[in-house]
Amino acid sequence: MSIQASKINKHYGNTQVLHDVSFSCDAGDTLVLLGPSGAGKSSLLRVLNLLETATNGEMTVANCAFNFTNTIDEQASSALRKKVGMVFQQYNLWPHMTVMQNLIEAPIKVAKLAKEDAKHQALEILTMLQLADKADTWPLQLSGGQQQRVAIARALMMKPDVLLFDEPTAALDPEITNQVVNIIKTLSQTGITQVIVTHEVDFAKKVASHVLYLEQGKIIEHGTSQAFSAPETQKFAEYLAH
Ligand SMILES: Nc1ncnc2c1ncn2[C@@H]1O[C@H](COP(=O)(O)OP(=O)(O)O)[C@@H](O)[C@H]1O
Ligand SMILES: [Mg+2]
Repeated sequence: MSIQASKINKHYGNTQVLHDVSFSCDAGDTLVLLGPSGAGKSSLLRVLNLLETATNGEMTVANCAFNFTNTIDEQASSALRKKVGMVFQQYNLWPHMTVMQNLIEAPIKVAKLAKEDAKHQALEILTMLQLADKADTWPLQLSGGQQQRVAIARALMMKPDVLLFDEPTAALDPEITNQVVNIIKTLSQTGITQVIVTHEVDFAKKVASHVLYLEQGKIIEHGTSQAFSAPETQKFAEYLAH
């Protein structure tokens, strides 16, 4: 089991945005978190890599276990961050660094990789993502789709067990979205676990092995990709229909 969440509750002040969220996800799955704006998708994703702390509940992610009723152990959270990568809607590349520098920065500084090894690894990943010719380019000289692929490449440099995406295609044209679809499918064959937040049904259908549908901080439906053609709940059926 790659991710196990049990009765996660999350409040911002007096507002509860996640209600008793429990689910699990096997290693190698591509789990899509789908739902309308404000459903709590990003909040849940951010809890999974401890960008946010839940109010209570328990989770195990990539063998790191947390009980949010207790204080979060620093060692466990830094272990989690080494195993979990994140790709944002806004690519968050460092504009003053080339693509290559963006990729090797964390592996050298955080993972203490030798520069030559980091560069070698970066070229392999850039080649896989068809970006090898962009290594010496500045991020702002790239299209949105290319920047998003570089952001994925940068996350892969840390060899994560789990890769989280928050609306990775929200700013992209349909054609470019298909490139991201292809990357996610390629990665799914490597055994990495991917959790992808989106509100786009077509994109979700193309990548998901499993789907978690949320409304107002609650899980409405959780199933395999078959749920897209045979939803079990009226609410998910309605979301798919509109
Ligand atoms: N940092 C925050 N402070 C207060 N409220 C927040 C914060 N982040 C999100 N929210 C609220 O939590 C709810 C869920 O938001 P979010 O997780 O971003 O939903 P989604 O990603 O599904 O659109 C929304 O009502 C949103 O306004
Ligand atoms: Mg969101």
